[in-house]
Amino acid sequence: MKLTSKRITLRMHKNEDAYAFKEMLKDEIARKYTGGTVDKTIEEIIEYFKKLNTGFTSELNTIISNKNNFEFAIVNNIDSKYIGYCGIQYCDTLNGLELLYGLKREYWGQGLAFEAANTVIQYSFKHLSLDIIEAVVNPENIASEKILIKCGFRYDKNIECPNQGKVKKYKMDKEIWLTTTST
Ligand SMILES: CC(C)(COP(=O)(O)OP(=O)(O)OC[C@H]1O[C@@H](n2cnc3c(N)ncnc32)[C@H](O)[C@@H]1OP(=O)(O)O)[C@@H](O)C(=O)NCCC(=O)NCCS
Repeated sequence: MKLTSKRITLRMHKNEDAYAFKEMLKDEIARKYTGGTVDKTIEEIIEYFKKLNTGFTSELNTIISNKNNFEFAIVNNIDSKYIGYCGIQYCDTLNGLELLYGLKREYWGQGLAFEAANTVIQYSFKHLSLDIIEAVVNPENIASEKILIKCGFRYDKNIECPNQGKVKKYKMDKEIWLTTTST
């Protein structure tokens, strides 16, 4: 499974991504709004990738019932280097699927997360027969909120999320997405 856009390719995580992934986990600034465990070994990360990749072999209904992720590695089209991750995952608090993304800090500020998010949204609505995608964002995470709005998400309400406190919940309906895109 592989999706390609102008500057990036989204594909399943591979063992060789583990080193770059580990660097990203250790970056306190990149982790500010996402949390997660910092001290994973390469072996633990590879195990985590295996679990992540099972999402690609599941039907949508099992992604939800198995609380799986459908999460891609983002790699650079020029040198194939690992840039970050983007996908959808089951979220207990929402009891539904949410969009998620994160990039290594050296790739911030180039619109790459927007490019990845847009590609995943397009794939999800076209091929996963989803009717709605949700997202939550810390109100201080301005760049992330701008990406959601640029992708066509609409603000829904503020909610309380475990470990994250009060966050803004956004959602996008397939019907609305269809009216705003020609692809
Ligand atoms: C959030 C994140 C993915 C943004 O990625 P990015 O590729 O740098 O985003 P972009 O370059 O597309 O920037 C998005 C917008 O935010 C703006 N922006 C970026 N940083 C900003 C800041 N600190 N303050 C205000 N605006 C900011 C950009 O100018 C851009 O605006 P524009 O579309 O009007 O030009 C990246 O910061 C990241 O990986 N953070 C850690 C993980 C994370 O927080 N994930 C989201 C959890 S909800």
